[in-house]
Amino acid sequence: MVAKSTPKQLERLPNHVAIVPDGNGRWAEKRGWPRLEGHRAGAENMHRMVQYLNKYPINYVTLYGFSTENWNRPESEIKGLFQILTAFIDRYLDEIHGKGIRLRHIGRLHQLPQSLRESITRAIATTRDNTSMTLCVAFNYGGRAEIVDAMQRLIADGVRPEDITEESLSKYLYAADIPDVDLLIRTGDETRLSNFLLWQTAYSEYHFTRVLWPDFRKRDLDRALLSYSRRKRRFGGLG
Ligand code: IPE
Ligand code: MG
Repeated sequence: MVAKSTPKQLERLPNHVAIVPDGNGRWAEKRGWPRLEGHRAGAENMHRMVQYLNKYPINYVTLYGFSTENWNRPESEIKGLFQILTAFIDRYLDEIHGKGIRLRHIGRLHQLPQSLRESITRAIATTRDNTSMTLCVAFNYGGRAEIVDAMQRLIADGVRPEDITEESLSKYLYAADIPDVDLLIRTGDETRLSNFLLWQTAYSEYHFTRVLWPDFRKRDLDRALLSYSRRKRRFGGLG
């Protein structure tokens, strides 16, 4: 495996980068193409971005693939998106595994179509012992849904009210072992969180860019990482 290094100007890299890849539809519409072409280009760019990120000593990457609110889109777009996501996992599983990347999923898996569920489950099982980087995909994910699901399981387990703490609740989140987000990047000229990782981004640094996701390249990622490395994180203290 290639040794990972931190470029000199990037003194401090984030341990966990979360990405809201927005702008696929607009990218396609600008060209007079159907929105699904934008999602196809967006998926290819996810592949590209995972390669870049895996070259840095960044341990966790979470990608927002499909939100609980995306069910409000036309059925044809949803179906197309699921097909693209399934094909994407199937096509790149060997490569991801070969690079030592461990795949994880967060969200309500049971509501997804069977073929996508199977692809995700297979990819998780295949890559479970990999240690180069953890790639977490959020399909059918909502931040509020995650907290609701956590509370339901916590109560079902008989946890007493006085034992509910930030630590004990965190243990019931979809991926309890994945640490909080250090840097959240959103493309596509929107400056909102859109119900992504509400709990895990409480003290994240945010980077917003106008670049549409299918056009987001290594230089754009490096810009985000550079901006992160220059920030002083105080976590509410005086630092
Ligand atoms: C983001 O691109 C991808 C997903 C939500 C799956 P959009 O589809 O939101 O693209 P715009 O915002 O319409 O351009
Ligand atoms: Mg959008």
